Amino acid sequence: MNLFRTKRVEEFLKDLEEGPQLKRALGPIALISLGLGAIIGAGIFVITGHAAASYAGPAVAISFIISGIACALAGLAYAEFAAMVPVAGSAYTYSYATLGEFWAWFIAWNLVLEYLIAGATVAVGWSGYVVDLLKQFGIHISPVLTNAPLDILSSEEKRKIIESGKDLSFIEKYLGLHFTGSYINLPAVLIVFVVGLILLIGISESAIVNNIIVILKTFVLLLFVVIGFGNIDVANWDPFIPPSSGNFGEYGWSGVLRAAGVVFFAYIGFDAVSTAAQEAKNPQRDVPIGILGSLFIATLLYIAVSLVLTGVVHYSKLHVPAPIAVAVNAMGPQFGWLMLVVKLGAIAGLTSVILMTLLGQTRIFFAMARDGLLPESFSKIHSRFKTPYISTIVVTVAAMFIAAIFPINILGELVSIGTLLAFSIVCVAVAVLRIKRPELNRPFKMPLVFVLAPLGALACVLQMVFLPLDTWFRLAIWTIIGVSIYFLYGYKHSRLAKKE
Ligand code: ALA
Repeated sequence: MNLFRTKRVEEFLKDLEEGPQLKRALGPIALISLGLGAIIGAGIFVITGHAAASYAGPAVAISFIISGIACALAGLAYAEFAAMVPVAGSAYTYSYATLGEFWAWFIAWNLVLEYLIAGATVAVGWSGYVVDLLKQFGIHISPVLTNAPLDILSSEEKRKIIESGKDLSFIEKYLGLHFTGSYINLPAVLIVFVVGLILLIGISESAIVNNIIVILKTFVLLLFVVIGFGNIDVANWDPFIPPSSGNFGEYGWSGVLRAAGVVFFAYIGFDAVSTAAQEAKNPQRDVPIGILGSLFIATLLYIAVSLVLTGVVHYSKLHVPAPIAVAVNAMGPQFGWLMLVVKLGAIAGLTSVILMTLLGQTRIFFAMARDGLLPESFSKIHSRFKTPYISTIVVTVAAMFIAAIFPINILGELVSIGTLLAFSIVCVAVAVLRIKRPELNRPFKMPLVFVLAPLGALACVLQMVFLPLDTWFRLAIWTIIGVSIYFLYGYKHSRLAKKE
C-alpha cells in the first residue's frame, strides 16, 4: 500500500496554470477584511460567555492571549504555504504536497469539522441571538423549537443517574450527551438553508458586502468596549483567576488552559485568507499580511471585549446564548438602544461567518473530488449557476441536520479540537517540506522555522489536551469514520492510484 504518495507542488502549480483563472482583485486591506469576516463570529459573541462561566472566569482574557499566540504560529506556517502554493483547498492541499495522501485525507476530514461543523455551530449561535431579538419585540417562539434536542450531560447529572441504580446509555456514557425534551433548533436550520441557497445560486459574497459587515461587527464590539468600560465593577474581576474547583479544567490554571482550547474557536477563519490566494493581486506579500493582520486585530478586540464582559457582569451569569446582550442589559435601561445594535451586529456578523465556512467546505470537497478522493459528482459544476451544486447541497443538508440537533458548546469544542489537530499538522508539514524540498521558491518564510513550527504544533496539541475528555471520544469516533471512508473509497479512487 502506498499511503504516503504525494502530489508534487509542481503538479498543483500546473493545475493552477491550466485551470480557470480568477480575477486578481484583492489587496492587503481587502484580505485583512476577508479574514475578519470569517473570524469574528460566534466565538466572541457566544462562546466566550460559556468559557468564562464554566472554565476560566475573568481570566478568559488570558486564554485569549494563549490561544492567539498558538494561532499566530500556525498563521505563519499557513502564510508560508499560501505564498508558495497559492491554490484553493487550504491545509488539505499543503499536506497532500508534503506528508502524503493519507495525511491529506486525515486533515481534510478534520477540516470538515473546521468548516462544515463550524458553519452549523455559528448557525446555532445565530439562532440564540435571533430568538433573543424577537423576544425584545414581544415575539416568543416555543423553546422546544429553538433548542437542541441533545445537550451535554454534566458530571453531576451522570453521577445522579449512576446513584439511582440506572445504567448509562451509550450516548450518555461515551458521548456525554442526553436528551433535553426539545424537538429542533428551527431558526438555526432555516439560516443554514438560506445560506445554502445563496451558495447554490452563486451570489458569491462580494467584497463590498463583506466589508460592510466587518465594519459593522467591529464597530459594535468597539462600542461595547468603550461604553462597557465605564460600567465595569472591578469587584467582578476579583479573583481574576477563580480558584480551581478541584475538578481538572474547572477554574484555576487548568481552567484557563481549557478555556484557551474552547475560545480557540473564535480565531478560526484566518486561514480563509489563504484560500483566496488565487484572487490576491500580490499573494506572496499580501496573503501573509492578510492572515497575520486579521489575527492581530481580532486578538486585541477579543482581549478587550472579554475583559469588559467579565467586568460588567459576574462570570457566573454568562452561560447564556447571548452573553454580550446580557452585559448590555446589566448596564441599565438607558442602554436599550445599544442592546439592539449589539444584537443586529451579532446577527449580521454571524451570517457572514456561516457563509464563509460553508463556502470553504464546498471548495475543499471540490478540490478533493478533483483528486479522486471523493466521488466525481462533488466537483460537478451547475451549467447555469456555475457552482459546485452537488457539494453545496450535501454540505447544506449535513449542516442543517447538525444545527438542528446539537447545542453550541459540544459543536464548538469539537470544531476546536479538529481544527487544532489540522493546524498542528500544518506546522509539522511546513518544517518537513523545508527538509524535503529545500529548493522550492518560498516568497514568504516562517522565521526560525525549526523552532517556531514545532512550538506552534506543541501549542495546538497543548490546547487539545486540556479540552474535555468527552470531546476526545467524539474526535476518536469522527476519525474512525473518516479513516474507514478513506480505505473503502479514497485509496482506490485517488487519481494518484490510477497513475501507479
Ligand atoms: N471564528 C469563527 C467564529 O467565532 C468561526 O464564529
